[in-house]
Amino acid sequence: SFEQSLRPQTLSQYIGQDEVKKNLAVFIEAAKLRKEALDHVLLYGPPGLGKTTLAVVIANEMGVNVRTTSGPAIERPGDLAAILTSLEPGEVLFIDEIHRLPRAIEEVLYPAMEDYCLDIVIGKGPESRSVRLDLPPFTLVGATTRAGSVSAPLRDRFGVLSRLEYYTEDQLTNIIHRTAEILETAIEGQGAIEIARRSRGTPRIANRLLRRVRDFAQVRGDGVITRQLADQALELLQVDRLGLDNIDHKLLKGMIEKFRGGPVGLNTIAASIGEEAMTIEDVYEPYLLQIGFLQRTPRGRMVTELVYEHFHLEVPEK
Ligand code: ADE
Repeated sequence: SFEQSLRPQTLSQYIGQDEVKKNLAVFIEAAKLRKEALDHVLLYGPPGLGKTTLAVVIANEMGVNVRTTSGPAIERPGDLAAILTSLEPGEVLFIDEIHRLPRAIEEVLYPAMEDYCLDIVIGKGPESRSVRLDLPPFTLVGATTRAGSVSAPLRDRFGVLSRLEYYTEDQLTNIIHRTAEILETAIEGQGAIEIARRSRGTPRIANRLLRRVRDFAQVRGDGVITRQLADQALELLQVDRLGLDNIDHKLLKGMIEKFRGGPVGLNTIAASIGEEAMTIEDVYEPYLLQIGFLQRTPRGRMVTELVYEHFHLEVPEK
């Protein structure tokens, strides 16, 4: 699809994550030389950094198809067995949000990952017995926003563990230029930098902001994304100078106004601003920690002085 074509298809098209790419290139080449399936890969890191894209790139580089599913989508062991038995040799099975796989289903994965086989229990009670079913060799690519939530036995069965990092402004600028070219949108260097600066280190956000700014350029301007146009559009989109949005603002201001800046527990903050604790923890907090706006302490989360400065508020006395 068109949407799919925005995503890079090869490692050389994939911008950023240089360490991860360098290592994967070696493992992929070695597996191909040996004519084996690539070892299982666990990708972890904040949302929007390209875990799904990388799974597709890995399959392309191996010259195989990718089957995509997610932890919550697999409800019964039979669901997973059906997928595993339908794979072609060497194919990639991508499981997004793998930390949300039910435990009983994880256990089906262990022998599948280790020995390419399934242990199927036939019958019930004392009459039951187990039969082994051979599977084609395959590569499991798992993705998670939280490596710490993947159980140790599952984590240990991945041969490659790769952590994706937030992108630099330069890398995001390159991604924006690449996407703009695919979208056939005219963009000036400073326009791309302005969007990159406000994308929270995240390509998914950069590409989303680019589309919205492009709408403004087309309707309000002459179609060209200049720095000034990007700046105006992003202001209307309520994305601030650092890329923080309404929810970031609600979170940070809520902590200051209701909890004197903290420390305050995650669930308490979440309830007070009407957001899901898990969304805050997985989506909002990692970037705020990264830019030094939040600190985690044993007694809860605290805002730093940078937050008061960002909102032009007086820093309270200790
Ligand atoms: N689009 C989204 N993420 C990308 C990346 N890492 N490289 C190139 N294009 C992208």
